[in-house]
Amino acid sequence: MIIAPSLLAANFGWLAKETMRADRAKAEWLHLDIMDGHFVPNISFGPEVVRVLRPLSRMKFDVHLMCSRPETLLIPFAEAGADHIIVHVELGDCVAPLLWKIRSLGKKVGLAVNPPTAISNVQPFLEQIDQLLIMTVNPGFGGQQFISEMLPKIQQAHAWRQEKELDYHIEVDGGINFHTAVECAKAGADTFVSGTALFGRRQLKKAVEKMRRLVKTHGHKYKRPLRASASN
Ligand code: DX5
Ligand code: ZN
Repeated sequence: MIIAPSLLAANFGWLAKETMRADRAKAEWLHLDIMDGHFVPNISFGPEVVRVLRPLSRMKFDVHLMCSRPETLLIPFAEAGADHIIVHVELGDCVAPLLWKIRSLGKKVGLAVNPPTAISNVQPFLEQIDQLLIMTVNPGFGGQQFISEMLPKIQQAHAWRQEKELDYHIEVDGGINFHTAVECAKAGADTFVSGTALFGRRQLKKAVEKMRRLVKTHGHKYKRPLRASASN
């Protein structure tokens, strides 16, 4: 089980301090939301911010591109220190070449699906990805309410993973708190992006520990296939 605090909910005046706080909290991944003001109606930050934060932490940098033209951004984020790069399935015909390009840059490959998009859209790509990001709010802003209608998508992703003996992470993003994280864990998620519910806490370390303990208790014991990589 992986806990990934989302930097979007951190104090933007103190991004370096906030990154170190997440590191001290022993979060496995740091989730970095990149918004272009076009794919979503908000703007966050770019590769330069990722570059300056990179040396401050050992967490994997999980870069979520909510951008209409991510092809121009893959190399800048790869060079800035992203470990994982996630693009959206809503980009249609561009998706296959984007996934290939991320892989060729030596990064973990992620595919995200928005709430209104059917989960069947990701099915053709399951063999090419390391992580499937199921959005549990409409992307663009932190602090929104979890959309529980997304739980069947998680169950479907979990069923496919077992049937096809694949090893992609099932990652959930949006409105994840102690309660909704448990719901998602029961449905088959193993990676939990959480902004407001974690960064909003004075004791981030305790919050990360509590979320991890809860999802471990309620989640599935998924045995990764032998051919799966041993890394996070
Ligand atoms: C939403 C982003 C999320 C966001 C989640 O567009 O993709 O990563 O930071 O924030 P919370 O946990 O506050 O819903
Ligand atoms: Zn995100």
